[in-house]
Amino acid sequence: MSLLIRNGRVVTAVDDYHADIFVEDETVSLIGLDLDVEADRTIDAAGRLVIPGGVDPHTHMDMPFGGTTSADDFETGTRAAAFGGTTTIVDFAIQTKGHSTLEGLETWHEKAAGKAGIDYGFHMIVTDMEDDRLWEMRRLADEGVTSYKMFMAYPGVLYVDDGTLFRAMRKAGEDGTLVCMHAENGIVIDEIVKIALAEGKTAPKYHALTRPTRMEAEGVHRSIAIAEVAGVPVYIVHLSCADALEQVTLARDRGAQVFAETCPQYLFLDLSHYDHDDFEGAKYVMTPPLREKWNQEHLWRGLGFGDLQSISTDHCPFCFKDQKVLGVDDFSKIPNGGPGVENRMSLVYNGGVVGGRLSVNKFVELTSTAASKLFGLFPKKGTIAVGSDADIVVFNPDRRETISIDNPHTHHMNVDYNAYEGTEVQGVSEIVISRGRVVVEDNVWHGRAGGGNFLKRGLFGGPF
Ligand code: URP
Ligand code: ZN
Ligand code: ZN
Repeated sequence: MSLLIRNGRVVTAVDDYHADIFVEDETVSLIGLDLDVEADRTIDAAGRLVIPGGVDPHTHMDMPFGGTTSADDFETGTRAAAFGGTTTIVDFAIQTKGHSTLEGLETWHEKAAGKAGIDYGFHMIVTDMEDDRLWEMRRLADEGVTSYKMFMAYPGVLYVDDGTLFRAMRKAGEDGTLVCMHAENGIVIDEIVKIALAEGKTAPKYHALTRPTRMEAEGVHRSIAIAEVAGVPVYIVHLSCADALEQVTLARDRGAQVFAETCPQYLFLDLSHYDHDDFEGAKYVMTPPLREKWNQEHLWRGLGFGDLQSISTDHCPFCFKDQKVLGVDDFSKIPNGGPGVENRMSLVYNGGVVGGRLSVNKFVELTSTAASKLFGLFPKKGTIAVGSDADIVVFNPDRRETISIDNPHTHHMNVDYNAYEGTEVQGVSEIVISRGRVVVEDNVWHGRAGGGNFLKRGLFGGPF
């Protein structure tokens, strides 16, 4: 099967030129002007950007959490991702406390196999790591799981203490892998939560008011310090505020190997979304919570100047009616997380490129290339080059859509609300190609459950 994409404006993290792209089977095989080749199918991309498929390095499909399970599984979640122009996700497998991480990996392989419609990899969430288990980390890396996530939040659930953090970090450093950190002081936060509940403060907004930005900044500072001593690069996930960003910037300025992502929710939504007398604010109960609006300009600055490398979604949807309601009388019981995997590319293009904050190359870097490099997928993923996987999006930079649960062009996620309801965006993924196969065209799904491959990722490639 061959595919010719003609007349497009090819944009990668570094290039911007008009050319034709010839794809044979799963791979880009030729790029040039007015290519003289026969193809099984030709796509005319005149007036469109031709960009690498999005790489979302932070999703939670089919994840048990907060007494329920995230509403998108690998079939619905990856399909929605593809509609939005994302062709690779890196999801989080979980080690059950006291059990082998390899068992956790097996469970997540079972969840994804035969379901994922686009390619996927796994990080491993480490929940305990005694000395006699450290060997498993090298085995995971051999299996293509070359990054781990550890939590300073959620005591009694996913939380690990600093000793565990250090042990696992030291081993990850020896093995050449990367540690992802959920950086928040969960022990102190739980005390603040107890006080709030004792005072009868049970509404969703107290989720945000009990998680001060200082406690995120403290977690960022502490995890970076421990990583520096352990000798491992660290990647701060879902960074939400200026306070935490300052710690990343300070550490990078002193030469620490620190990388960080933020997410669309922290760039486009803010604390005012909790201002509801009813339970509506539960839709935005995620961790870290939405912050005061002024933080957003600091995050955009961090993205523009390179202190933040990537924009992921932390897609972890729970239905408002059936799942968020678990915390109707107590905000601490609301399942934490929100939807977004489908809307990331349009939101970032609109807010970044159309908004004059990012170049179009930076847009590609933040939504695809950087994550691909950091997580051992480059140059197979994250760029358009001869020999790369043909994960390509034909992106209309002029088309506008209003994101809504009721707009069939913007919502395919298996959740009963859209966090960006009513937001008008300019820039839409129109044709989405995954390893040479058109999986989305004219808002119709042409992919198949099981069409996505598990990606064995390489070791951490160093700063770039
Ligand atoms: O609220 C969130 N972020 N839920 C998903 C789990 C996590 O902490 O990433
Ligand atoms: Zn987290
Ligand atoms: Zn997450």
